[in-house]
Amino acid sequence: MANVLEKEKEAKLAKNAKDRKKTSGLHALLGRQVANWAVLHIKIHQHHWYVKGPNFYALHVKFEELYEEAALTMDQFAERLLSVGGQPVSTTKEIAAAATIKEHEKPLVTHPTNPASN
Ligand SMILES: [Fe+2]
Repeated sequence: MANVLEKEKEAKLAKNAKDRKKTSGLHALLGRQVANWAVLHIKIHQHHWYVKGPNFYALHVKFEELYEEAALTMDQFAERLLSVGGQPVSTTKEIAAAATIKEHEKPLVTHPTNPASN
């Protein structure tokens, strides 16, 4: 009897470990999406601010629509991640580390606080 209980306990532990492995992959995937949509939101917002030219107004409005959509998508991924027991990145440092979308090597605009633009 003790042997049967021991085997059931081992089987349950093995199943839990397998489930944790599956869940951590899902958490990582959703977490990366949160980070990437956060970066995309900022990038589109930058274009919203700095767009120039004869189509300024139409593009300014379109970029606003797009960055709002990016923010909503980021929020949906974050809330989905929370609903499955994960923890979305929530600081700029965490977002920069987790995102696979990176900054442009050459900045869109030069800014005195951006060392890459000097
Ligand atoms: Fe605006």
